[in-house]
Amino acid sequence: MGHQFHWDAKTYLELMRAEVPDYGRLQEEVAAATRLVEARAILELGTGTGETARRLLAVHPLADLIGIDSSEQMLAAASQLPEPERVDLRIGRIEDALPAGPFDLVIAALIVHHLQGHDKANLFRRVHSLLRPGGRFVLADVVVPEFPGDAITPLSPDYDHPNTVAEQLDWLEGAAFSASVIWKRRDLAVIAADRRT
Ligand SMILES: C[S@@+](CC[C@H](N)C(=O)[O-])C[C@H]1O[C@@H](n2cnc3c(N)ncnc32)[C@H](O)[C@@H]1O
Repeated sequence: MGHQFHWDAKTYLELMRAEVPDYGRLQEEVAAATRLVEARAILELGTGTGETARRLLAVHPLADLIGIDSSEQMLAAASQLPEPERVDLRIGRIEDALPAGPFDLVIAALIVHHLQGHDKANLFRRVHSLLRPGGRFVLADVVVPEFPGDAITPLSPDYDHPNTVAEQLDWLEGAAFSASVIWKRRDLAVIAADRRT
């Protein structure tokens, strides 16, 4: 994943499956982590080609989804998602102002590790302010694993800045979320964070 300064939508899925053996499982865990929320409005950070969005739209048939991504080419692929009238794709960086909420769900799969630690903490506070009370933030990402031998995802030090699960749980709690790990394998984790206040 580390050499993708310019993502190639055509080879994206093939590359993910090669570099992240549990990519499919991670996507399924993200969708499952949202099931108990009756969502009408979803914000997805880092929509890419729409692999996460497709699953979210299937689980939440009444929801519309806004997807943000900095890559025009990746979003062009996501524009082929079924039911395009439910999807609003926007080019943008997650470090910048995010669409106004409130959202029932905010989802970030395999994107937040591109931010440095303090920017992650800042993002979590901003996501909190976009969620309606009772809303959920699902964060699925590459993390620094407990055992160094579990670090199997290829990373680039200039582009990928993973943190430990414990650090991210702390920042989420600091942003007034109740956060817990839903699924974890080697250097991947899915965290569900519920808006506390
Ligand atoms: C590994 S892909 C994940 C896509 C999708 N969520 C999935 O799981 O397949 C990461 C995506 O994040 C986007 N991205 C990376 N850094 C970003 C940033 N700072 N702001 C917005 N998008 C960013 C990339 O363009 C890419 O499409």
